[in-house]
Amino acid sequence: MKSIQKLKNISGKKILVRVDFNVPIINGKVIDDFRIKKAVPTIDYLSKKGAIVILITHLGRSGEDSLKPVFSRLKKYFPEASFIDESVLGYGATGALDNLKKGDIALMKNLRSDPGEVKNSPSFARGLSRYADLYVNDAFSVCHRAHASIIGLPKYLPSYAGFQLQEEIKNLSRVFDPKHPFLFILGGAKFKTKIPLMKNFLRKADNVFIGGAIANDFFRAEGYEVGTSLVSDENLPIYSLLKKNNLILPVDVEVESGNRHKYVKPEEVTAEESIVDIGPESVKMLDSLIAKAKFILWNGPLGKYEAGFGGATETVIKAVAKSKAFSLIGGGDIVSLISKSKTEAKFGFVSTGGGATLEFLTKKTLAGIKALK
Ligand code: 3PG
Ligand code: MG
Repeated sequence: MKSIQKLKNISGKKILVRVDFNVPIINGKVIDDFRIKKAVPTIDYLSKKGAIVILITHLGRSGEDSLKPVFSRLKKYFPEASFIDESVLGYGATGALDNLKKGDIALMKNLRSDPGEVKNSPSFARGLSRYADLYVNDAFSVCHRAHASIIGLPKYLPSYAGFQLQEEIKNLSRVFDPKHPFLFILGGAKFKTKIPLMKNFLRKADNVFIGGAIANDFFRAEGYEVGTSLVSDENLPIYSLLKKNNLILPVDVEVESGNRHKYVKPEEVTAEESIVDIGPESVKMLDSLIAKAKFILWNGPLGKYEAGFGGATETVIKAVAKSKAFSLIGGGDIVSLISKSKTEAKFGFVSTGGGATLEFLTKKTLAGIKALK
């Protein structure tokens, strides 16, 4: 993989820079710009060297989402940037790109507005490639997708890795040779997608603490009542995982029933109740594991934070931030809680990826990384 630092004489050269500006937006406003902020060093570096920086990204799944709110946020970092909100391969876009000058930064329309992006259509990739002399991938968090802008473009243009992509690979790879005690904290939902990760780290980590909705699947497998808690649709074959002695489940949980809330032991949950967070005894237990750990990997919130149950997660964020262990925070939902608590600098590394991070941690590579080699 070639780094953008190797690029010489790029003044006036057009560079397609694949970023991942798939950020959370509510009521037309970006509520967390972590991914935008993380792409700034690459954009800044190329633009200062006189390159014409053409930013390409997707937003959402349907392709219908407008990048307007993203562009407003991007202007906070690059006030002179322009937005080419025209069909990606249309005449309007071609004309607007022709007018760009040395050092200019432009954001193109949502890539998924063209079906060729997700289909990885060669004609779409070729069409895009005609806009530029070079391609830079700085979108680690979408490198698990075999889409045109990720694996198609490198077939047509000399290709390079941006700073954030390199940082992600360097830091996440530390997990393959961790210091011990190694504590893995896993939360969130979507149990099935996390099984490979769990199996892998039950072998490698000294302790694996399970929180979030995935703990509910384990409680159900134990034979406990889980009431109306979020669980997987199917009964997954997880019983064998339960028997691993480095698997640690919460010893108490917060349950909700109507407006009532209380802390109970997992085996005391009733049919009317729903588990929404881990309880204080579990947090205490986790705190002592954190204090002993030399390496911490954490993915997924411990409670239903989007419904206001981020309490335990926020307490544990503080404990991890304080610990001397090298801490890797693997992507997605916790990141917005971390941005909120302004603790990012206190972690070893906070990944921009969600699905991409999980896949990298098990497979050690991603489609988009292979395409750059
Ligand atoms: C993400 O948010 O995980 C990436 O931007 C990929 O988006 P996708 O899951 O819609 O492909
Ligand atoms: Mg996603």
